Amino acid sequence: MQERILVTGGLGFIGSHFVELALSKGYFVINVDKMTYAIREDLDFEKHKNYRFVKRDICDLRRLPDNIKYIVNFAAESHVDNSIRDNSAFFHSNVRGVYNLLELVRKTPKEKRPVFVQISTDEVYGDILNGSFEETDRLAPSNPYSATKAAADQLVLGWTRTHGLRTRICRSSNNYGFGQRAEKLIPKTMKLAIKNQKVGVHGDGTYTREWTFVGDNCHGIMCVMEKGLDGEIYNISAGEELSNLNVVKTILKVYDRPADLYEFVKDRPGQDVRYSVDSSKIRTLGWKPQMTLEKYLPICKELNEYRRKNMPPGRKEKLLNMLGVYSKRT
Ligand SMILES: NC(=O)c1ccc[n+]([C@@H]2O[C@H](COP(=O)([O-])OP(=O)(O)OC[C@H]3O[C@@H](n4cnc5c(N)ncnc54)[C@H](O)[C@@H]3O)[C@@H](O)[C@H]2O)c1
Repeated sequence: MQERILVTGGLGFIGSHFVELALSKGYFVINVDKMTYAIREDLDFEKHKNYRFVKRDICDLRRLPDNIKYIVNFAAESHVDNSIRDNSAFFHSNVRGVYNLLELVRKTPKEKRPVFVQISTDEVYGDILNGSFEETDRLAPSNPYSATKAAADQLVLGWTRTHGLRTRICRSSNNYGFGQRAEKLIPKTMKLAIKNQKVGVHGDGTYTREWTFVGDNCHGIMCVMEKGLDGEIYNISAGEELSNLNVVKTILKVYDRPADLYEFVKDRPGQDVRYSVDSSKIRTLGWKPQMTLEKYLPICKELNEYRRKNMPPGRKEKLLNMLGVYSKRT
């Protein structure tokens, strides 16, 4: 029988790539999304025979669809700056939403309960000046967004131990990829570079992050969903570590822009100095990242130039395929 996955937040950046991957693997996907400002507008999943969409807030779900084998919860508010301005939507979706989903699983008869995969973040550990966090390290979130994500992880662990839920948690580093909103550093810098405008870099630009391609992250999540162990946490990171300034300078170079087309802007309160996670555990499941920023950025540049240049037939599709975007969805 065809396996059914309940994906939440599947119209957002990472969730949409996961839906795409799940459909390509023959799963039936039920996507529950509230449709916040963060949804992608370019998706056409509706055409797929193995796809059903439910517009709903995860806090308002009153029952789970029948016969689902997995829930993969991407639904969240995800932008740190917004959480600093007002955290109420973050508490609502990232904490209360997870609580509601866990309760719905708990109330499902044991033999019918789906495996619950919570999509968390490396930010729950806070920052680390040297070395990398392992899954057993304590949580020390630094900002309101990561605090809500850490709270959700703790709920998952509590429900796992006390109520015997089958759960897994994925903590990935910063993602980049097709369809990401320009509020995030890489697409924002690309967008401004095209217009020859300066991008703002927090503080002195030395804050470092690890970067993982969204397609690699989704393969990692799929690997955890299919092969991970119950009650376990998996860090996911390609381990590509760069300071924010280096990210900006790399993009400016690929886009043939002046190396100083940026400006330092006021620091974000609570700013984490460096994130780094050890991803050896998920690699034991056979996961290995394929993409690097060096390969990714020129593909984006060529796609950005697509409208202005004549491309040979099929070239655009090929480039999109390289980014894990498959046009054939039926
Ligand atoms: N983007 C990253 O670099 C990154 C890194 C690590 C972890 N994560 C985590 O991955 C997940 C997805 O991140 P993203 O960047 O794709 O986020 P996103 O903001 O692009 O998408 C979130 C999606 O969730 C939906 N949503 C929000 N609240 C909802 C609710 N209450 N009910 C139903 N749907 C709701 C939105 O409409 C949107 O489609 C998040 O949980 C985030 O914490 C993201």
